[in-house]
Amino acid sequence: MYPVSIAIDGPAGAGKSTVARMVAKRLNFLYVDTGAMYRTVAYLCIAHSVDATNSQAIIQMLNQHDVTFQMSDDGFKALVDDVDVSVQLRDPKVSAHVSTVAAHHEVRSRLTTWQRTFAKTQSVVMDGRDIGTVVLPDATIKIFLTADVEERARRRQREFCKNGHDVPLEEIIQAVAERDARDSSREIAPLKAAGDAIQIDSTGKSAERVVDEILSLVEDAH
Ligand code: C5P
Repeated sequence: MYPVSIAIDGPAGAGKSTVARMVAKRLNFLYVDTGAMYRTVAYLCIAHSVDATNSQAIIQMLNQHDVTFQMSDDGFKALVDDVDVSVQLRDPKVSAHVSTVAAHHEVRSRLTTWQRTFAKTQSVVMDGRDIGTVVLPDATIKIFLTADVEERARRRQREFCKNGHDVPLEEIIQAVAERDARDSSREIAPLKAAGDAIQIDSTGKSAERVVDEILSLVEDAH
């Protein structure tokens, strides 16, 4: 049987990662957090003072480091030269840089190839911005997950808080809206729902409820 792939796209803070991880666990599929992959590139730019607007410098930097991703029940981990940098990826500075890095064709093409490799041999739940449109256009099920911007910002605030960053809500609303605008308006692989994606609005819903909705769609697809 061919591997099954579930693509979950949507704007920042819509709950994609939480829901995708839970769906993957319930189905015993691999969870691939493609946002963490772009964040790893942004983190490396900051750590090595590489200009995030210079795609050639970014590719050169990537060639100089051993970047790997580990997927397990604990979630999705990013390792740079064997050091786990997963916590650093949630830093607000990384969030501020990541959509600039993600706009480069060279960066996207490298990460897209990697993401497709994961889905070739194993069943996956993959979340991001362009999974249903570009990375896995033949995904078994495509979800476009949204929520209103204030709720999304509150979720990000709780995530920042857990990682020791105290950021005012207004600041997060603005940052999230700006990032969505950059992700939606870029030329290559912009954030948008695939024509055949099923839209789920998670405003006011628990993660468990959204997971159940997705699992029933998976069951219907069989
Ligand atoms: O999902 P997360 O908020 O961690 O994604 C961080 C950023 O990575 C997004 O704002 C976007 O710029 C970029 N991204 C992307 N394509 C994906 C996943 C993430 O451009 N498939």
